[in-house]
Amino acid sequence: MKLCMIGTGYVGLVSGVCFADLGNDVVCVDKDVNKINLLKKGKIPIYEPGLSELVLKNYKNKRLTFSTDLKKSIYTSDVIFICVGTPTKKSGSSADLSQIYNVASEIKSSVNSFKIIVTKSTVPVTTGDEIEKILSKKNKKKNFSVVSNPEFLREGEAIRDFTYPDRIIVGSNDIRSNRVLKNLYAPLISKGAQYVHTERRAAELIKYASNAFLATKITFINEIANLCEKIGINVEDISIGMGLDKRIGSRFLRAGPAYGGSCFPKDTKAITSTADKFKTNLSVIKSVIKSNENRSSLLLNRVYEILNKKIKNKKITFLGVTFKANTDDMRDSSSLIMIPSLSKKGAIIKYFDPTGYKKEFSRVKNVSNVNTIKESLEGSDLVIVHTEWNDFKSINFKNFIKGKKFIIYDMRNIYSPKKIRNQGFKYYSVGR
Ligand SMILES: NC(=O)c1ccc[n+]([C@@H]2O[C@H](COP(=O)([O-])OP(=O)(O)OC[C@H]3O[C@@H](n4cnc5c(N)ncnc54)[C@H](O)[C@@H]3O)[C@@H](O)[C@H]2O)c1
Repeated sequence: MKLCMIGTGYVGLVSGVCFADLGNDVVCVDKDVNKINLLKKGKIPIYEPGLSELVLKNYKNKRLTFSTDLKKSIYTSDVIFICVGTPTKKSGSSADLSQIYNVASEIKSSVNSFKIIVTKSTVPVTTGDEIEKILSKKNKKKNFSVVSNPEFLREGEAIRDFTYPDRIIVGSNDIRSNRVLKNLYAPLISKGAQYVHTERRAAELIKYASNAFLATKITFINEIANLCEKIGINVEDISIGMGLDKRIGSRFLRAGPAYGGSCFPKDTKAITSTADKFKTNLSVIKSVIKSNENRSSLLLNRVYEILNKKIKNKKITFLGVTFKANTDDMRDSSSLIMIPSLSKKGAIIKYFDPTGYKKEFSRVKNVSNVNTIKESLEGSDLVIVHTEWNDFKSINFKNFIKGKKFIIYDMRNIYSPKKIRNQGFKYYSVGR
């Protein structure tokens, strides 16, 4: 099949290359000329394990191409996937759909044969209806179909998630486009993925409801961790005890910092805003958002307590600053709240992240990036394990001590408290 991915970010690039690897001809389009030029030179603009090899393989065999020419790319494609960003609006909590509608307007003038337009971006219920209206201004309804096919891949696991999804959701209001999409996904269905066909609006809502539910699970266990800290019991016992119940499940039940990333914060806000428009109060999700927003202050308070409220001139190390491991994505990472706040109080901060320097901290006072774990730990008063990179899991802190011992605040519970304390370190973790 001839496919066009509009927007070559985490979703567009990963799904584009995976579709190409399944034998389709895929053109990945982006308006960012630098990004497309980099990709044409075989350089990958994002960090995602396994992506580089797969892109190079499919680019070399010419199943995958890159372009900034949207019109031409649409002309030559049968199915067009919209994969542009849907961030939160600058004011309010609803999704900013300007990128989606700009793309729809551009597609409007390029429909030269029957086209299936698929939103892979996460878009609020009724967005497909709006795209259909835009396209109808210049095209007969029989010449196109608008479909919702939300993407569920996780950064850091994106290729595996795309190739072996639990389910593929396709929301379309006509049989023809459903048949084409089912055919496109046939190689994944034959490997065990469930294919679920719904009406378009339902598919749009499934994505938001799923993300809101996962965010709720994380927030739930984070609050239980707060209680565990007060009572003096281990939240991990609670997670195991709860998670073994098949109705609950063990995933997303690990206590830690506030959830972040490019999806949960914006999607939880957007679903409540959509519901408000439909005069429905999603009070559970609203409290999840509030609880998560308070979480960074709560963990910061713990840092103040650990340092006896003396932050000025304290040397603090951050191990990992991305919102989770195996990605370079900094969007809505809790480190973006914690590091500036500690800097404001006079701390001197060094951070090490396996994906390197982050421009987000370039203007924050007394914050520097270092290239090795060793450099990051030198002279530190407090080491905060912020992201659960494998690189940190086997550090032997004893090897890095010269003079006084630093304190360790393990926000991801990756170390055994007993083992670290036996080495003479003051050690704090979450909910235990
Ligand atoms: N990142 C994830 O893990 C993930 C997972 C599932 C769903 N999603 C959803 O997928 C969508 C895309 O997310 P992302 O993280 O890939 O975004 P991203 O910011 O990484 O990529 C979006 C790309 O679209 C390009 N773009 C914007 N307007 C364009 C236009 N008019 N023409 C061509 N290109 C244009 C941008 O330049 C950018 O490269 C969002 O709705 C997001 O919620 C993301």
